[in-house]
Amino acid sequence: MNSKSKMVLAIIIFAGGWIIGSNNNVAPVITSSVGGASYGGGFQSDISVGAVPHRTTLGTVHIVNPGDSIQTAVATAQPGDTIQVMPGTYSETVYIDKDDIHLVGVIKQGNRATMDGLGKLNDAILYSGNNIIIENFRITRYKGNGIMGQAGNNFEIRNNVIVDTGIYGIFPQLGTNGLVEHNVVSGIEDAAIYIGMSDNIHVAYNEVFDSVAGIEIENSRHAIVEHNNAHHNTGGILAFVTPGLPIKTTEDVIIRNNFVLNNNTPNFGAPGSIVSGIPAGTGILVMAADDVIIEGNIISNNKTAGIIINDHSFATTITMDVESDPNSDRTMILDNVMLNNGYDTITEVTALALTELHTGLVDIVHVGPSNGSCIINRHRYRTLGIGNYGECDFTNTDSTDTYLLAGGAKPRTIDPEARGEIAYLGVCTGCHSYTGRLIGPSVKVIQAMYAGNPQGLADYINAPIKRRDNFPEMPAQNYLDAETQFAVAKYMLQVEN
Ligand code: HEC
Repeated sequence: MNSKSKMVLAIIIFAGGWIIGSNNNVAPVITSSVGGASYGGGFQSDISVGAVPHRTTLGTVHIVNPGDSIQTAVATAQPGDTIQVMPGTYSETVYIDKDDIHLVGVIKQGNRATMDGLGKLNDAILYSGNNIIIENFRITRYKGNGIMGQAGNNFEIRNNVIVDTGIYGIFPQLGTNGLVEHNVVSGIEDAAIYIGMSDNIHVAYNEVFDSVAGIEIENSRHAIVEHNNAHHNTGGILAFVTPGLPIKTTEDVIIRNNFVLNNNTPNFGAPGSIVSGIPAGTGILVMAADDVIIEGNIISNNKTAGIIINDHSFATTITMDVESDPNSDRTMILDNVMLNNGYDTITEVTALALTELHTGLVDIVHVGPSNGSCIINRHRYRTLGIGNYGECDFTNTDSTDTYLLAGGAKPRTIDPEARGEIAYLGVCTGCHSYTGRLIGPSVKVIQAMYAGNPQGLADYINAPIKRRDNFPEMPAQNYLDAETQFAVAKYMLQVEN
């Protein structure tokens, strides 16, 4: 081809792009943002308004003063009791393995009961009981978790300030019916608020910042995330499936009325962990999660994109799981305010933009296959990859207040046979997935090391020693009794996905 005909070809392509890009003579579908139908899907509770059951009595009140141990008060308390921790500093790990305990930090003249891990302790508060309330603490300098739930149902985690506590700030794992509200969480290496393998969850009015992931709904169903402020994280709000965990889906999540601003913090997640793959500048991320509604958020100044919807194959840090559907189906995007997103995006998004002859900002990008997704007022946003999105036949989620269960969930009772399984689900899967690296090595790798040696494995988790340079230390699981340690070791060695 001579240079003249090349030039002509270039002009034709350019002109073609211009025609496609401008959508000539096609009037946009403008949906009124006032009124309209409400979402008719989602979790249907048998009674209309659910709630975490509120305790009406305090039971016996145990007062903990500075110099006393909170754990001693927990050991004395009976189900139904309240433990009030006076302002002061407490350096310990508290483990609540009974039901119906209300652990409350007393705030006096702005001074809080402060749990300080001194950069040495792993976890501030762990609970495995049902109907646990944890309120008003300040928690700082732990290496593992601020507050972690291990298979307890009906929890309330409220009004805590959590600063720089390692891997997870607030992490209810394997719980049904729980409320996480009015917490301020910052400086977390993985997720500030991580809802793991849980159902019927409400996350509201929290502020999360300076963390890798702000709020994460992972392998969980029926969750509402509303009125939160997620800013200055690597990624703001995430709904996704981690492959290789025993519960394989994330479904039915409403993300509405949140601020999602300036989530451009360079990723400081542990190398190899799933969140280490989140590109800095991600506002909302939906990955392999189904039936996610995004409504009424203010999403601005996230440099990679405002909303990223993708499948598992897009994420380089992920090992696929044949039992997890890798696609994000039925994403529903209603009216949001989106400004100045995608101003300095990643090459994968730029490449997609090229195929769509798109230049400039990117509010919404969808990568990978998707069934049944929809949007209203698409012309408001700068979009990529949403050509197959239909029009949603509803404009709001007003008729859905909460997915919390009326009357609460049945408390989880663990029969001795299931002890190993529940500890595996409630504790180990927070850091170990079957297939790939999470915080710790994969279960497959561990099975190869400890085949036929459950006692050796139990001994390791009771007092772990540092083995791998490129992994953090594993926190000791010595709060579990010896029988549970052995049961979970046996369970881990025979699990198949
Ligand atoms: C907070 C994260 C976390 C939790 C929770 C956790 N682990 Fe680990 N685990 C790790 C990390 C990190 C390593 C790698 C440590 C190293 O190599 O020094 C590890 C390593 C291991 C190993 C390998 C030991 C070896 O000899 O190399 C076994 C076995 C193990 N974990 C079992 C468990 C079991 C069982 C549970 C649940 C009761 C559990 N872990 C909970 C993070 C965790």
